[in-house]
Amino acid sequence: MKSSYNLNSIEKIELMVPDNIDSLTNNNLNKEKKPLSKFSYKKLKLIPSFIIKKFYKILPGIIKDILFWSSVIHKSPSSKFFAKTKYDELRSILDIKVSSLTLLGVPNNLKEEVSNTFRSGFYTFNLLNLSDLDTLFGEVVSYSNPSHAGARPYFKDGRNEKIEDSFSAYYDFSNEDNQRITTFILNNLDKGFNHHLSSLAGYRCKLDEISFSLAIVYGENSNSEMHQDTYASIAKGFIYLQDITEKDAPFEYLEGSYIDAAFRSSQTNKAVINGDPDSTTSTRLRGKDLDDAINQYPLISFTGKKGLFVLANTSGYHRKGPHNSSKPRITLNFEIKRRGLFSKLLINLVAIIKFKLLKK
Ligand SMILES: [Fe+2]
Repeated sequence: MKSSYNLNSIEKIELMVPDNIDSLTNNNLNKEKKPLSKFSYKKLKLIPSFIIKKFYKILPGIIKDILFWSSVIHKSPSSKFFAKTKYDELRSILDIKVSSLTLLGVPNNLKEEVSNTFRSGFYTFNLLNLSDLDTLFGEVVSYSNPSHAGARPYFKDGRNEKIEDSFSAYYDFSNEDNQRITTFILNNLDKGFNHHLSSLAGYRCKLDEISFSLAIVYGENSNSEMHQDTYASIAKGFIYLQDITEKDAPFEYLEGSYIDAAFRSSQTNKAVINGDPDSTTSTRLRGKDLDDAINQYPLISFTGKKGLFVLANTSGYHRKGPHNSSKPRITLNFEIKRRGLFSKLLINLVAIIKFKLLKK
């Protein structure tokens, strides 16, 4: 066994969970200050979306369904009236069509591979040697106050029963560290990466101005339930910082569930009509619905070595796999900016025009 002096940052964090989690979560004065909370132009740009979200919250369901039908924040129909129609299926089909425009800008030699990513809903590859980032992983837990980032210590079934030994903490990196991580990753990517990323996000995009977080997860949480994040394509990335087996809560995904608008919207509509306590947010599959879905779509469990990079369109069904290990799962996470239907359409049309012009 290594002496603690020889352990890397991830191994040191592993030793702190679950018995020593106080030292990971304390919002105490020992936290070093890094420029996380500084006023910045980036934060100023978030004000309009903050106001829109507040306005959205106070609207009656049927008005939300009319005004926000194309918005990515409107995760499922709010009214039973629209849940009884093809409203959600039609907007999901439109989102899939608009997202598929990203495939038109893909060079011929990558077409088949990227189309496969688009259909399946995920893409993986290996990043070799993350040791250059090790110091940053050790530092972020000392300067950043963790958030739960949506992983709650109870299932979203309305019962609010606390899950024993559930721990989830997401530490956001400082702007400076985000830039260092981005530069490191960009230096280790192949040329096809942005095409895979765009096909999953639903619009032409690249790894730029990304906010990363270090995610430490132990036991089960609300993300252990199979769910879709929203009706429209969004891309999330996870880089494993340890070797992950089937016992270590691997990310799991129902391959091809994203592309099936009829299936996803039928599940969402059923949740809204039945008054599911979480129907206003991300649709969850439970019991027979979950068994049927696993029979219908291959369940992919992303086990692999440290450095495995998983990109996924999380409007397809996914979950945190079961955790049966004494070690926490530690990943480097990020999400590509979520965009609504019209914004995706505009970006994709401009990208297609540029691609066609450059080809000539
Ligand atoms: Fe999710």
